[in-house]
Amino acid sequence: MTNTIEITKAQTSKIHEVDFENLSFGKVFTDHMFICDFKNGEWQQPEITPYAPLTLDPSARVFHYGQAVFEGMKAFKDDANKVWLFRPEDNLLRINKSAERLAMPEFPKDVFMEGLKALINLDEAWVKPGFGNSLYIRPFVIATEPAIAASPALEYKFLIICSPAQSYYSGDVRVLIAEQFSRSANGGVGFAKAAGNYAAQFYPTSLANQEGFQQIIWTDADTHEFLEEAGTMNVFFRINDTLVTAPTNERILDGITRKSIIQIAQDSGIAVEVRPIKVSELIEASKSGALKEIFGSGTAAVVSPISAFSYKGDVFEIPKDVKSFSSIFKEKLLNIQYNKSEDPYGWRQSI
Ligand code: COI
Repeated sequence: MTNTIEITKAQTSKIHEVDFENLSFGKVFTDHMFICDFKNGEWQQPEITPYAPLTLDPSARVFHYGQAVFEGMKAFKDDANKVWLFRPEDNLLRINKSAERLAMPEFPKDVFMEGLKALINLDEAWVKPGFGNSLYIRPFVIATEPAIAASPALEYKFLIICSPAQSYYSGDVRVLIAEQFSRSANGGVGFAKAAGNYAAQFYPTSLANQEGFQQIIWTDADTHEFLEEAGTMNVFFRINDTLVTAPTNERILDGITRKSIIQIAQDSGIAVEVRPIKVSELIEASKSGALKEIFGSGTAAVVSPISAFSYKGDVFEIPKDVKSFSSIFKEKLLNIQYNKSEDPYGWRQSI
C-alpha cells in the first residue's frame, strides 16, 4: 500500500445550499470522502474523492451478516479559524479493536491520520466556529466481497464521511431503564462499535419513545439489576457529590468522552467511583434526594443532562441544579476542544 493519498476534488461545492443554522444531525454531508479498498490481503491506494454513492454487489457480505464497524469523532474550529481534532488516535485504536472482533482487517494509523487531516483540510469551510458547531466525522468499514457464505469477507472498504453538526439532542433527555433488553451479553460484541449494536437498540428505543422517553438505559443481560450504558451514550450518576459510572467491560463501549469526563472530574477534585451500580440504588438515591444528576456522554451527545428516568412504570424526576456537574464538565471539555483553554492532557490536535 502507498501512503500517498490520491485526491480528486469536487468540481463544485454544495456548501451554499446548506442552512447551517438549522442542521438535523447526520443528514448533510461535505463535498469529499476518504475511501480505501482492502483486497488481495492488503489495503490499496487511499483516495479522497467527491462525496458520492457507492456501488456494491447485492451479495456484498455487509448486507447479509452485518460485518460493519464505525466510529464517531468531531472537528472543532477556534476563534482564529484553526481546526482541531479531539483524541483522534483513540478512535483509530477503537475501530481497529471493533474490526478485530468482527474478523475484519485493521487499518494503518498513519494512513488514517493523513487521510483524515487531508479530508478535513479540503472541507475546512464546512467546520463552523462557535460552541455547539462542529464537524461530525464518521469513519466506517464494511465487508464488500460479493459472496453469501457466512464467513469473514476477503474484501472491505474503509471510508470517512463528514457531516456538519449542532447538538444531537435538543433539550434534556428522559430515559427508560430497560427491564428486559440488554445491549450485549458477556462474550458478545457490546464493547465494539459494531453497526448491529445500534440497529438492535432501535426496537426497544421505539417502545421507549412511545412512552415519551428519548433513550433507553440498558441493564445487564444476566440479572437486569445493573445499569450499563444508554443507546447513544455512556451514563454518569451524581449521588450527593460523588460521580458514579459503570466500569467498561465486554458489554459496554469504552467511550472517549466518558474517559475524558472521568479525567476532568478527578482533576477538578470530584470523587469518582467507577463501579457497578444497581437500578435499586438509583431508585433509593432518587427517593432520598441523594441523586442530584444523571447525564450521558458521547461524541454526538457531548454531555447531555437526563431530566427523568422511568422504571417499571414509575417515573423519577431529577431536580435541576444550576451548578450541575454536567454543565461544569461540558464547559471544561468544550474549552479544550475549541482551543479556549490549556489542554494539559494533549487531547487536542491541529489538522
Ligand atoms: C457517537 O456518539 O459518535 C456515536 O457514534 C453514537 C451514535 C449512535 C450517534
